[in-house]
Amino acid sequence: MRVFAPGRVNLIGDHTDYAGGLVLPIAIQLGTTIEGTRGGDRVELTSVDADEQFSRLVDAVVAESGATTGFVGSVTSTLPIGAGLSSSASVEVAIALAIDARGDIAAACQRAEQRATGVPCGRMDQLASVHGRAGHALLIDCSTYSIRHVAVPSDVDIVVVHSGEPRALSSSAYAERRAQLEAGDTRRVRHVRTENERVVAFADALESNDVARAGELMLESHASLRDDYEVSTATLDELVESLCATAGVHGARLTGAGFGGCVVALTEPGALDVGWKVTASSGAHVLGD
Ligand code: GLA
Repeated sequence: MRVFAPGRVNLIGDHTDYAGGLVLPIAIQLGTTIEGTRGGDRVELTSVDADEQFSRLVDAVVAESGATTGFVGSVTSTLPIGAGLSSSASVEVAIALAIDARGDIAAACQRAEQRATGVPCGRMDQLASVHGRAGHALLIDCSTYSIRHVAVPSDVDIVVVHSGEPRALSSSAYAERRAQLEAGDTRRVRHVRTENERVVAFADALESNDVARAGELMLESHASLRDDYEVSTATLDELVESLCATAGVHGARLTGAGFGGCVVALTEPGALDVGWKVTASSGAHVLGD
């Protein structure tokens, strides 16, 4: 059998999920495919990218999701690793599907990610991979994990551009930001409060086809992640600035955890000839036997 689980790009609402806030990701067409045979009681997965981290992830998903069957097969991915497009969440969700995990798969995969990497991540990436819908973004309220699908206007491109900067120190800095927020640090708290407002406004802008307003909100979000949450870098800032200076670009911002990685831009169709054009895609599914 074959299963597929997508990666995600977050359009707006970063560093809010673990604070019970709002996020607005899309599942994308790139992701992880697992091909093999169910049965027995062993889970054995090979991958060309297999390293220690990969085996830890496999073990953690098996432990957290309550596998109902063994599985022997191979894992392939079309996602660039370490770019911030949730390659690990996509692997976790694909494994959970392959081993026929029951119950709340996104929650189990979030626990698996925390267990395998030690990073106190939120649940956005796993929810996007499980619940994506073609043509839609997911407005997720992380205080209840309720999801509303919001249509993405058809006359825009969503383009992801890698800064060329690896996401250095992201795990320790991520944990540090989360601790600062929980300790009530004024600027960290202000980011979460204003970012939640921007997510609501952005969803409204998408629904009323106001792409110019959506673009402005992306820039405001980037500024808040840069100044209040301090997860941007000079390279990400310059990339956002140069993309926004390009004709036909409505807005751009860093996406995901920050500290390097990718920028997401909302543009008129065909405005950019760099990066990956991503489309809002459906969530994880079985592709066939
Ligand atoms: C990473 C985490 C997510 C989320 C983002 C920032 O992708 O895995 O849970 O916190 O960073 O929005």
